[in-house]
Amino acid sequence: MPTNRLSQFFGISSFGESHGAAIGILIDSPPPNLIFPYAALKEALAARNVNTPYKTARKESDDYEILSGVFEGKTTGLPLCIIVRNNDARPGDYEAIKDVFRPGHADFSWYQKYHIYDYRGGGRASGRETLARVMASALLQELISSIEIEIISRQIGELTCTATDAPTHNPFHWQGDTAKLYRYLDEIKAAGDSVGGLLELRARKVPAGLGDPVYEKLSANIAKAMLSIPSVKGISFGSGMAFARLKGSEANDQISETGFLNNHAGGINGGISNGNDIVFQLIVRAVPSVSLPQKTIDKEGNPQSIEIKGRHDTCHIPRIIPVVKAMLQITLADALAHQKLIHGEEQSLEDYRSSLDKLDEELMLLLYRRRQIVQAVKKYKQKHNLPPKDALRETEIMKRIRVIAKELELDPALAEAIMQELLKLSQ
Ligand SMILES: Cc1cc2nc3c(=O)[nH]c(=O)nc-3n(C[C@H](O)[C@H](O)[C@H](O)COP(=O)(O)O)c2cc1C
Repeated sequence: MPTNRLSQFFGISSFGESHGAAIGILIDSPPPNLIFPYAALKEALAARNVNTPYKTARKESDDYEILSGVFEGKTTGLPLCIIVRNNDARPGDYEAIKDVFRPGHADFSWYQKYHIYDYRGGGRASGRETLARVMASALLQELISSIEIEIISRQIGELTCTATDAPTHNPFHWQGDTAKLYRYLDEIKAAGDSVGGLLELRARKVPAGLGDPVYEKLSANIAKAMLSIPSVKGISFGSGMAFARLKGSEANDQISETGFLNNHAGGINGGISNGNDIVFQLIVRAVPSVSLPQKTIDKEGNPQSIEIKGRHDTCHIPRIIPVVKAMLQITLADALAHQKLIHGEEQSLEDYRSSLDKLDEELMLLLYRRRQIVQAVKKYKQKHNLPPKDALRETEIMKRIRVIAKELELDPALAEAIMQELLKLSQ
């Protein structure tokens, strides 16, 4: 199944591994003549590359390169490919443990799936893959510039923080006593261990009406986007875990003439944004690479003990913050774009054309699939000695097409003529 699409609406795919040549994104057919956001891209990548003493010692400048699709500062409408090279990759660091599954990492499960895995820093399962997500979000900035996103750490390891008014100008977005936090992280680092935490995200000025029932609900798509980030283990919206004990009368967000009286729901009801702030919490696990001895097995199933001595974060919260922001932006941009399609108000000629282009793409894909099924039918008929042509079946198809066309207020004769051509094309 193709699963490297970062944004459905904008068709952004990502590629690359931690210790391969590069991490990148590809947009097959971007709209032409868009001013390329050089500064936004640089800024987003710099935010992800934030420096703390608890960060991996891997030194990457994370400068991007445009391989194609931009001319004289504007998109050309042709495939847009942007990469960040892995300049400080050291695959040799992993040679000693290449046949041993690292606990907590994707090594074991990915090996079960593919019977091959890139042991160099986890390959595509590495946190370095998230560079692509940050790049993609930078390209969509203009669409979502009015939405403000705030992220704070509510918990790091065993330290919790409930303050809401203290400044958060530190890489951990920690509102509590940072000296205490750093003392705690120093202890964890000295012990060769690692910690995770709890993040809270709040998106302000999100218009009501985003999200599409019933399988593209905004809450479902945000959850999927977040849970696709390595190390993110859980999400809860609004009052989250407290919903289990709140009575209905307490959990409801009552409404007055001037708006909602509170925000237990986290800004989403029935999967659609209600105009309140979108609020959710994320559980982030501790960095799996620790230098303490841990039990595991090798590819032959023999017991092993492993201590990971490579270059790893003690706490990766500062590097995850820009990634969760990027994924929320991408999800909201997708939802906004879909909403624009049904709302009608702000449609521009470009919007209409890109919607038509997408429909044409889908039509081609359907045609391709139809032809594949027709080929399978042909083989089936050959195997079972059935005649290749079935006049009765074709008559039935045309009858059905005429009925559908009538229901959709299309010209039945034209629909039948198109179907006849399709049948020829599928041969
Ligand atoms: C931005 C980012 C940076 C990461 N850095 C590291 C790291 O330095 N060391 C490590 O062991 N895991 C790191 N991880 C986490 C692993 O990639 C992740 O836990 C692992 O692939 C297993 O996936 P899972 O936790 O989703 O099951 C990082 C994750 C992210 C999102």
